[in-house]
Amino acid sequence: MSDPQSHRQLVVGNWKMHGSHAVNEALLEALKSAGPLPCNAAVCAPFPYLAQTAERLARSAISWGAQDCSAHEQGAYTGEVSAAMLADFGCRYAIVGHSERRALHAESDQLVADKAQAALARGVTPIVCVGETLAERDAGQTDAVVKRQLSAVIHTLAHCASEMMVAYEPVWAIGTGLTATPEQAQAVHALLRAQLHAATEHAASMKLLYGGSVKPDNAASLFAQPDIDGGLIGGASLKAIDFLAICRAAQR
Ligand code: PGA
Repeated sequence: MSDPQSHRQLVVGNWKMHGSHAVNEALLEALKSAGPLPCNAAVCAPFPYLAQTAERLARSAISWGAQDCSAHEQGAYTGEVSAAMLADFGCRYAIVGHSERRALHAESDQLVADKAQAALARGVTPIVCVGETLAERDAGQTDAVVKRQLSAVIHTLAHCASEMMVAYEPVWAIGTGLTATPEQAQAVHALLRAQLHAATEHAASMKLLYGGSVKPDNAASLFAQPDIDGGLIGGASLKAIDFLAICRAAQR
């Protein structure tokens, strides 16, 4: 795979369960007409709108992805969407292990790892989310929690581990307006990078994204950290002007 722009930072929008056909039309049109960006950019839309997103972003520089995928190949799993189905129409990324799924759908570290493996097996790049709760941070468990979450995925993916992306999203910073300071985020990213170094010789070029209340006014200082290679953006990705401003804050 020789993507000449793969060295650039990556900014991914996570729309979560927001949008409608009409709202998406306007948002995608605004993103598409933005002109060249200094980073690679993608949006992860809800399943029913992936086809719309794919169609609208065709021939644009912006990629698209899903917010989850099944760990299973196919079968009696009502309501689930397989990586093969996503790959069938060109899906590039799938977020797996978002803290909302870990918390609200009781997804275990191993299930998240299995989802990452299912995605990779179909050529869809998993964006594996890890992050500690406020109680875990206050108890001094941040390092242990993110290491445990990442280690399940590294172990399951084995020699393919370098093909995933990782998003560090402190749970206490998601949708709260509380952002990790650039130093707090960098400290965890450095730890995750070291863990990846122990598992793969490609760790230095892997993408580690930061997520959690990234906004136009704090993006540049986060993206300037040596081990932060871009962002996973929730709320601010729903407004084209904010999402594009965050993209423009990426390091060239
Ligand atoms: P936020 O969400 O930017 O709204 O905090 C980030 C995420 O959950 O991916």
